[in-house]
Amino acid sequence: MAVVAYIQEHVAPCLIGRNPQDIEDIWQYLYRGAYWRKGPVTMAAIAAIDMALWDIKGKIAGLPVYQLLGGRSRKAVRLYAHANGTTVPETLEKAQGLMDQGFSAIRLQSAVPGLPVTYGVLGDKKDYYDLQGNRPLPPEESWSTPKYFQMVIELFKTAREKLGPNVDLLHDVHNRLTPIEAARLGKMLEPYNLLFLEDACMAENQETYKLIRDHTTTPLAIGETYNTIWDCKDLIQNQWIDYIRTAATHAGGITAMRRITDFAAMFQVRTAPHGAPDLSPACFAAHMHLNTWAPNFGIQEFVGLGNAEMRSVFNYDIKIEDGMAYVSDSPGLGVDFDEDAAAQLPYKRSYLPVSRLEDGTMWNW
Ligand code: CO
Repeated sequence: MAVVAYIQEHVAPCLIGRNPQDIEDIWQYLYRGAYWRKGPVTMAAIAAIDMALWDIKGKIAGLPVYQLLGGRSRKAVRLYAHANGTTVPETLEKAQGLMDQGFSAIRLQSAVPGLPVTYGVLGDKKDYYDLQGNRPLPPEESWSTPKYFQMVIELFKTAREKLGPNVDLLHDVHNRLTPIEAARLGKMLEPYNLLFLEDACMAENQETYKLIRDHTTTPLAIGETYNTIWDCKDLIQNQWIDYIRTAATHAGGITAMRRITDFAAMFQVRTAPHGAPDLSPACFAAHMHLNTWAPNFGIQEFVGLGNAEMRSVFNYDIKIEDGMAYVSDSPGLGVDFDEDAAAQLPYKRSYLPVSRLEDGTMWNW
């Protein structure tokens, strides 16, 4: 709702009478023109306008957005899917199911024995919104690094035994570790050959990743919460990471993502855009065009194309086959948004969880 207010009260009046083809000037006006720059609300608002402008330009040109970016680097976009389980065998059973569907890259998350709830593992609850029922407040999770370490080593050791050497495996630590713990985990996971270890540690201080990098060859990925290129500048130019995970919706749209992508290419850092269920099909479509174009694209996170409610609002023709996604060739982004259908689904307040250490100390979720 803060983003809606920012667009309606602050941004929209500045757009009246402008030429929608002036994408760069409008982006610069909204970013550079503002005294109070950056932040998740401002950058999500700029992103929404920017993605709409690229869609309009594509429709004027009669071309899909990836053609406006320079055309294809590849015929399809490789996806990684999620296998989440309450036990290691359950996680691996789900991973095998995804491999049977044709996915060649899978993120493994498993519950930590001895902790009531683990990031990414919700058991019979279908999502965090479901968990909060009709009294929405942040659900509380707890964290113990020693308990987690036992589980995660067991998970990847068994995964390589059961799933074999040919599937790419990924894991999301969700910022739960300190720098030296993250370094140690990366080192311990080296025998299991991860495609990447995601969000091993917070990088508000980007130099933190130098410490992790100095101790492990496990590839590192971060960036889903970043709003601008400045949040990842040191990480990229020092080659402390291998994948940058910024998302069009949170990092200022296609214009900003293109800039981050080209900057990352100079340092052999590849893109792996965030693909959580709270990112809309418009964001996924923007990623599809960026991923189809970007010479240094790595992999796209994928959790499905949305539930029935989502499909009642958004119309899109992205084809998924054998763990690969094929971009739409419709002019623009190839996503239509039904405002009347959206009006049937009023906003409902809800929160992501918070996390505490077992002694009650607030921790990173
Ligand atoms: Co993530």
